[in-house]
Amino acid sequence: MATYGNGRRVAIVAGVRTPFVRAGTVFKSLSAIDLGRLVVAELIQRTNLSGKEVDNLVFGTVIPSVVAPNIAREVSLLPMLPKGVEAYTVSRACTSANQSITNAADQIALGHAGVSIAGGSESLSNIPILHSQGMAEKLVLLSKAKGSGDKLKVLSQFRPKDLVPITPAIAEPTTGETMGQSAEKMAKLNAIPREEQDQFALRSHRLAAQGTADGRLTAEIMTVYVPPKYETVVDKDNGIRTDTSLEALAKLPPVFDRKYGTVSAGNSSPLTDGAAAVVLMSEENARALGYPPLGFIRSYAYAALDPGEQLLQGPVLAAPVALQRAGLSLRDIDLVEMHEAFAAQVLSNLRGLESKAWAERAGFSHPVGAVDTDKLNVMGGSISIGHPFGATGARIVMTLLNELRRRGGQFGLMTVCAAGGLGHAMVVERAA
Ligand SMILES: CC(C)(COP(=O)(O)OP(=O)(O)OC[C@H]1O[C@@H](n2cnc3c(N)ncnc32)[C@H](O)[C@@H]1OP(=O)(O)O)[C@@H](O)C(=O)NCCC(=O)NCCS
Repeated sequence: MATYGNGRRVAIVAGVRTPFVRAGTVFKSLSAIDLGRLVVAELIQRTNLSGKEVDNLVFGTVIPSVVAPNIAREVSLLPMLPKGVEAYTVSRACTSANQSITNAADQIALGHAGVSIAGGSESLSNIPILHSQGMAEKLVLLSKAKGSGDKLKVLSQFRPKDLVPITPAIAEPTTGETMGQSAEKMAKLNAIPREEQDQFALRSHRLAAQGTADGRLTAEIMTVYVPPKYETVVDKDNGIRTDTSLEALAKLPPVFDRKYGTVSAGNSSPLTDGAAAVVLMSEENARALGYPPLGFIRSYAYAALDPGEQLLQGPVLAAPVALQRAGLSLRDIDLVEMHEAFAAQVLSNLRGLESKAWAERAGFSHPVGAVDTDKLNVMGGSISIGHPFGATGARIVMTLLNELRRRGGQFGLMTVCAAGGLGHAMVVERAA
């Protein structure tokens, strides 16, 4: 079987992330660019990588800055990277960091690059607030007006309603449905009761708390001294609740369907700020530069379905393809990392992977199978750790590789769902 890279294996040699923190808290003064620069500077420092070795930098973000939309280039202009390191930004909703990793990997597999930095960043504390269409039109007219008479004429047309700002919604442009409403719909279609969602959320917090206490998660996290005063020091995620319980979760009201719903603040991922990045190298470069690979990319796949149907069910279509491309089945997989946008989505994805109907939709006669929960998200996931949209994919791949090494496992599968009905899956293999 032809494996990914046609013999030119792509290694992931290191990764690091900022702490993931709830939006509006300790990182609220930092933009996605600031967070991206912090994480890449740390990655270079931790790996002692010479900037001269880096060929390119690919970064993902979901809500870009209007004034600096190519976040990758802003990040690559760090002092420790030569200005000749080319850089570009990718956007594929919550799979943006996955897209940056697979883009970088493809370039390495093609032989166009030997060493790449890939990752992503998001600041949901700093989303652009837009003017209304009416306000924007009048501002353009104002900028074109010649002389104070003309300017006053335009100014007299401004109305209070023009001043009402527009904030980006986490909603599908085609259907108007928010992510939460989609999760709610999936809970109903796949018969996922509230208690099962809360159980899953509790598990996520407990496992993430364990991973934090025993240092496995903290090993992946850098310490951020928050500029400009550098007095606030952040060295861990601040959304993990060590004190939550099934009773506390059960009391939380449903948010997206207040009357009949089951999706609450407790069983959803929170709005989060953070960044994560990894270093990829061709196997040859890794050997030549003396970087022992954490693991190799064995295969990956993307898939899509109608966003009006089950928006976050894309991983169910992507996973069997990634497994087939890897020449493996679920039985061969030692660990599974699944992005937790909502407990209802993870549980729907798991049900989908067991379903013949979903397998047939993906073009397979047999379902992927039942994921062993002892192998699933063993250090929690986005519900507890948080979910900075553009960064999550890089967090997951690094956690998966690190934990495969610790456990001596060989193969890992990761999946991420995304807006637009998109899904991603990747199979990684631990380096021997
Ligand atoms: C669900 C959502 C609307 C909740 O937002 P929020 O109301 O600001 O959330 P909060 O963190 O303030 O939580 C609300 C309450 O629940 C409580 N709570 C949340 N999680 C809890 C838990 N695990 N245990 C106990 N209490 C919890 C909070 O303490 C808070 O209580 P308070 O009102 O007494 O302070 C928001 O997190 C969201 O939009 N998430 C989805 C994001 C999304 O769509 N992502 C895309 C996925 S791909």
